[in-house]
Amino acid sequence: MKKELIKIIKKAGKILKEGFYADKNITFKAKKDLVTDYDVAVENFLKKKFSTRFKNFNIIAEESDNANIQFNNSIIIDPIDGTTNFVNGVPHTAISVGVYKNKKPYLAIVYNPILDELYTAKIGKGAFLNGKKIKVSHEDNFQKALLATGFPYTSGTNEDDLNDVVKKIKDVLPLCQDLRRLGSAALDLCYVARGTYEGYYEMNLKAWDVSAGILILIEAGGKVSNISGNTYTLFEDKYLVASNGKIHDEFIKNLNL
Ligand code: IPD
Ligand code: CA
Ligand code: CA
Repeated sequence: MKKELIKIIKKAGKILKEGFYADKNITFKAKKDLVTDYDVAVENFLKKKFSTRFKNFNIIAEESDNANIQFNNSIIIDPIDGTTNFVNGVPHTAISVGVYKNKKPYLAIVYNPILDELYTAKIGKGAFLNGKKIKVSHEDNFQKALLATGFPYTSGTNEDDLNDVVKKIKDVLPLCQDLRRLGSAALDLCYVARGTYEGYYEMNLKAWDVSAGILILIEAGGKVSNISGNTYTLFEDKYLVASNGKIHDEFIKNLNL
């Protein structure tokens, strides 16, 4: 299944790449939440291919009707993660596809066609970037940790969320090396997996943002939890905290100051 998934996703990557350099039709789903005709085109392409090829899985996809999500044996698609980057020409954008069996991660692909970076993982078989095995960093000193975060779209409308974003930055920034906000949750998790970042946290993520990145990080030796340090549950937890494992306890402590 992994090989076929990659083949299909690479084809979809051509649509994303073409769109990256083209004029796009942009509409707003919410105050800060953009969608383009290319998000829809990539999603429709993937759904068509997956539904004919992988009939034992239902499909959950960002730009589709998600009023009644059935999550079990599921392929979870974010057609373009980092749409704001995609629209503005920032090359940190990717297709993210996570395959779940009985609600457990099974296969994961994150593909950035602009930089030609293909991250893949299968449960128990390790994580790879363009076919080369990747591992999390060894850094165990929180003060030397390069961290990443993201800002939820609700920061434009929900004052509690905005205050929480600002508080956590104020608490964590003096204690770590530095903080990045590159704008693609799927790739942020892959950057922890490949040892570029020591950790990443964000609130209000959707299942499609992280369905693939979670498995890629775990298979690279990293750790994912909720803000209490317990198992992160897709579709349920408000906060996701991800790390190389070595700084995790201190990360959790510093996010709860
Ligand atoms: C967004 C990106 C961004 C994160 C947002 C996500 P989208 O996904 O992953 O980094 O901060 O929370 O919604 O809308 O570009 O698919
Ligand atoms: Ca996303
Ligand atoms: Ca998206």
